[in-house]
Amino acid sequence: MTRDMNNTIETILRRRSIRAYEPRQVEEDALNTILQAGQYAPSAMGQQPWHFTVIEHHDKLETLQSACKNVFLYSDNAALRETAAKDGYHVFYHAPMLLIISADSYAVAPREDCVLAMENMLLAAASLGIASCWVHSPIILYQSAGGPQTFAEIGVRFPEGHQPYASAVFGYSALPWPDAAPRKPGTVTRIA
Ligand SMILES: Cc1cc2nc3c(=O)[nH]c(=O)nc-3n(C[C@H](O)[C@H](O)[C@H](O)COP(=O)(O)O)c2cc1C
Repeated sequence: MTRDMNNTIETILRRRSIRAYEPRQVEEDALNTILQAGQYAPSAMGQQPWHFTVIEHHDKLETLQSACKNVFLYSDNAALRETAAKDGYHVFYHAPMLLIISADSYAVAPREDCVLAMENMLLAAASLGIASCWVHSPIILYQSAGGPQTFAEIGVRFPEGHQPYASAVFGYSALPWPDAAPRKPGTVTRIA
């Protein structure tokens, strides 16, 4: 297959979910660029119903990760239970920063808006050599009994009427950037 390659396409093909992080924080300029990339995502009817919560406080991240791990350990899903029970499993892979995108749940398409904003951010990060990994457990935690209380206890309160829809960790990879997992064939139908 021939392919028109440019920096954008290269970044899309190079982005990976990274699961080992250095402790150092994402540089301020890079964080601002990543946040801006999120804010420039499309949103239904241009509502921009989102809010970006950045958690960089080590101890608060640890509290949240323990609570998230428990959600996995006691989940109905066997794969989640198995993952969380693995020796040394850290829900955030020791990343120094967790970014949660919440939105007004009465917006036209809040989940889609947040997911698109997050994808922009993952790509912006990759383009700057910053690692990321989507981590879904904070979203599951928030939906569980006592979840909002856990967030409140560490001082994380989303704006009134907001639900968190997307979350990911960011930082610098502690390991060489991995190759892409093979992509499934046969996922395109073309009717010309
Ligand atoms: C909705 C969603 C939830 C995900 N949740 C997790 C997660 O909780 N932990 C994790 O390590 N990766 C998570 N991932 C990352 C996927 O495992 C990863 O994207 C997939 O294996 C493909 O690898 P790649 O991102 O390197 O291309 C999630 C991805 C998506 C889209």
